[in-house]
Amino acid sequence: MKIISVVGARPNFMKIAPFVRAIEQYNGSISNANNSRLITHILVHTGQHYDECMSKSFFEALNIPHPDIDLEIGSGSHAEQVGRTMIEFEKVVRREKPDWIVVVGDVNATCACSIVAKKEHIKLAHIEAGLRSFDMKMPEEINRLVTDRLSDLLLTPDEISSQNLRNEGVPEDKIEFVGNIMIDTLEVHRETASKMDINQVISKNILHSDLNHDFNITATKFALMTLHRPSNVDKKEILEPIVNFLCDELSRDIQLLWTIHPRTRKQLQMFDLWDKVTSADNIILMNPIGYHEMLRLNMDAELVLTDSGGLQEECCVLGTPCMTMRWNTERPITLRKHGGSCVLVGNSIENLRKEYAVIKTIETKPKHPPLWDGSTAKHIVRVLTNKN
Ligand code: UD1
Repeated sequence: MKIISVVGARPNFMKIAPFVRAIEQYNGSISNANNSRLITHILVHTGQHYDECMSKSFFEALNIPHPDIDLEIGSGSHAEQVGRTMIEFEKVVRREKPDWIVVVGDVNATCACSIVAKKEHIKLAHIEAGLRSFDMKMPEEINRLVTDRLSDLLLTPDEISSQNLRNEGVPEDKIEFVGNIMIDTLEVHRETASKMDINQVISKNILHSDLNHDFNITATKFALMTLHRPSNVDKKEILEPIVNFLCDELSRDIQLLWTIHPRTRKQLQMFDLWDKVTSADNIILMNPIGYHEMLRLNMDAELVLTDSGGLQEECCVLGTPCMTMRWNTERPITLRKHGGSCVLVGNSIENLRKEYAVIKTIETKPKHPPLWDGSTAKHIVRVLTNKN
């Protein structure tokens, strides 16, 4: 069996790493007499993310083999990214003629390659199927809907996602509840991360060390933040109050570590907010950090503020209180009302203020939803080999 799997952007890398390893383990378990059952695997990187800190560092940290093919798509509008990816990926598919194309998550690469797969009559499997925010203003929601509608095999992380698919009329025999593959990665790397020194993580990644020279984070409590969604960072009237809250309120109460996504940095500079953020006393700005480093900081953070879906899931499993800076989530299982540690605050300063006060008074515990146990990639390879 020949499989092409696709990655494009940072959140894809933690999802593909366990899949690649599970294929290697499966191939290792096949005896010589059964060579025809071996999986030939081709890893394609579309190149949507290309900076060292957004891409290569994750391949190295997660032991993902160098991609067999890099389409080098780069940045651009959504149509440009999807269009360029389709043009280049079609050539790969026509040349390689795989039995299956496996896509992960909900980024532009996921959607673009799914369309190519079906137009070339190749079977398509989607890892992390069935997530729904029901928010059509989110580019990722469109990517999820297109990908799931086209997929032959929908591999879901939780029962809520399986039910979403049933509600849309997806036949039962296409849906496989396999658990959350991100947690496979977390469990493999938890120990390595736990041994890292937090102060070293910061000094290695700090931006503007001249301005943020005074820190000894292990001696104090800290909050951890990431923000990159267009809905939070693309409009000044939304980003400015957030920055004011962080600089004038939150960071006066707790040290804030903020890892800055390239998009957010650009927007802060464009809106003349960069100087305010970089000169805030108790805010440490960092470049985008590696997988282990983020996990390490998450383990000790008093709270996380984020609009990232993956980080929400990691907070849920680690039990870190998380203010999810979104009005909706495609990952409801991580929310406090389902036993998780996350709460939706949107971009309302009133909500941020209120929930921060609540978090200081409650205790959150780690939660492992069913099959968030490190075995998801193995289930996926089993399902794929049985279906072929
Ligand atoms: C993409 C995903 C989003 C995911 C996020 C994680 C889509 C629709 N969005 O959003 O779901 O949560 O990745 O980061 O696929 N840039 C660089 N270097 C890079 C990559 C990007 O500087 O390596 C800059 C470019 O200016 C680019 C901007 O960041 O225009 C945004 O990158 P893009 O890939 O368009 O989307 P993300 O916001 O990263």
